[in-house]
Amino acid sequence: MASKDLGPVRHWQRLQLLATRFRGARGADLLAEQNRLTKLSLQLDCLCVDWSHQFINQEIFDCLVALGTALKVNDQLASQFAGEIVNTTESRPAVHTAMRGTSIGNKHLDSLVAMEYDNVCAFVNDVHEGTRRSFSDELFTDLLHVGIGGSHLGQVLACDALPNTFLKPHFLTNPNSIQVRRSLRDLNPNTTLVVFASKSFRTTETLEGFKQVASWLVERSGNADALKSNTVAISANKEALQQFPGSVFSIPLGVGGRFSLWSAMGLPVLLACGVPTFTKLRAGAQFADQHATSAEIHENVAAILALLAVWNTNFRGAGSHACLVYAEELRLLPAYLQQLSMESLGKTVHNHGEPTKHHTGTLVWGGLETEGQHAFHQWLLQGSRRFSADFIASLDAQSSHDEWVLSNCLAQQELLLAGHSNKDPHKAIQGGNGSTLFLLDRIEPWSIGILLALLEHTVACQGYLWSINPFDQWGVEAGKNLADSLVNARKQPQIQRQNTLQIQRLRKIAQRQNNLNKHQNG
Ligand code: F6P
Repeated sequence: MASKDLGPVRHWQRLQLLATRFRGARGADLLAEQNRLTKLSLQLDCLCVDWSHQFINQEIFDCLVALGTALKVNDQLASQFAGEIVNTTESRPAVHTAMRGTSIGNKHLDSLVAMEYDNVCAFVNDVHEGTRRSFSDELFTDLLHVGIGGSHLGQVLACDALPNTFLKPHFLTNPNSIQVRRSLRDLNPNTTLVVFASKSFRTTETLEGFKQVASWLVERSGNADALKSNTVAISANKEALQQFPGSVFSIPLGVGGRFSLWSAMGLPVLLACGVPTFTKLRAGAQFADQHATSAEIHENVAAILALLAVWNTNFRGAGSHACLVYAEELRLLPAYLQQLSMESLGKTVHNHGEPTKHHTGTLVWGGLETEGQHAFHQWLLQGSRRFSADFIASLDAQSSHDEWVLSNCLAQQELLLAGHSNKDPHKAIQGGNGSTLFLLDRIEPWSIGILLALLEHTVACQGYLWSINPFDQWGVEAGKNLADSLVNARKQPQIQRQNTLQIQRLRKIAQRQNNLNKHQNG
């Protein structure tokens, strides 16, 4: 445990005892408890969060709340909202909530955010109304977004989930020849607006991707002014933005990539879906912020979900967490949540440098259901591994089939917890796997905003409970640096003469590629 305070240790030890005592409980008995749903669910406007299918009883829930209280998770969340330095290893605040208009009590930053959002909206309206046109004086019809990770996953999710009533969005993440060819294949350079999205302005994939798209734009248009009129960049790197040929928007360093949808990084969503739609998305997230900063811990949904993640990870031995989406519009949510959670919580060092003595962030995966029911649900239902899950569904049944999908969602959730007894051991289902149901009245900008912000706060609260920093990602930086050094090694002959295993491999790869090239060229 991170804290020296006896409180969390006492509650942690109590939870270990309860987990042992509770191991033999039957999920079916839990579901039969009186008023279980009322006690273990909360309505956040149009979103019902229902954790009645978690493998817990009231005593365990109360002990989890006591642990969260002792670890001051609400206070830590309040510090984050107040713009304090919660990203300790980079000495930065986490101001993504301010980007959607949730004040952090700093009038200057609040007015800067409002002005920046107005500027972005003005740019978008100019593009939609034809004030801002292509180099060929044509209206823009398509946008090609070049970005990766947190500069891609939120944007593509929102564009996929919401109606694209304006520009048609296209996304280039990895500049391999196939993806570049496919993303440019149907585009007309005269009517395409290229969005370069990179917080650092240093990500190799994005820089290379933009270089190839820029060449395509200039070559196909035959117009050197094409870059000036048909490109826009979003970054925190102000120096790099000054060299950019097209329009530019900046974001603060205190906005983490995987939390940046609400900043100017949301530009592709505004361009594709319109200002009113994005403003509703932003407002939904703001609503979730107000809940997160005002609810007592036993009613703070993000804190509760984080405590349930601690229960499943540290006391139930869950080795992964599945995001099971029963709403077509949110089919890209698993990939978004995977980065949000794993890049934030894949840490083994506490904030003040001590190694963690317990598991922290788990593997997050998932899929669109009911496809998943025909792919991996056998593993979920009768496999040997313990896991937890989120079920995401909507009440807005547009057809009888939608009703069927919702029934499938509820059925799978029940089986995961309650199992299914059968005299034939090959047909029995053990159960015991807890899950939470996120039930949206309908899929719309407001409700998606609430859901995404709630997931952000749940991840942050897990970091606060485990006393790890959810806002940095030093591991990924190391990967980028090593890859860059290998690229350089392949170019420098003096390094080639070294005899390390890595150099031997690089030599062998180069030789194989030469042979292939000779073969292809005849
Ligand atoms: O995956 C590492 C990472 O730095 C993410 O945190 C980030 O969202 C992504 O790469 C892209 O970074 P950038 O926006 O700086 O290009």
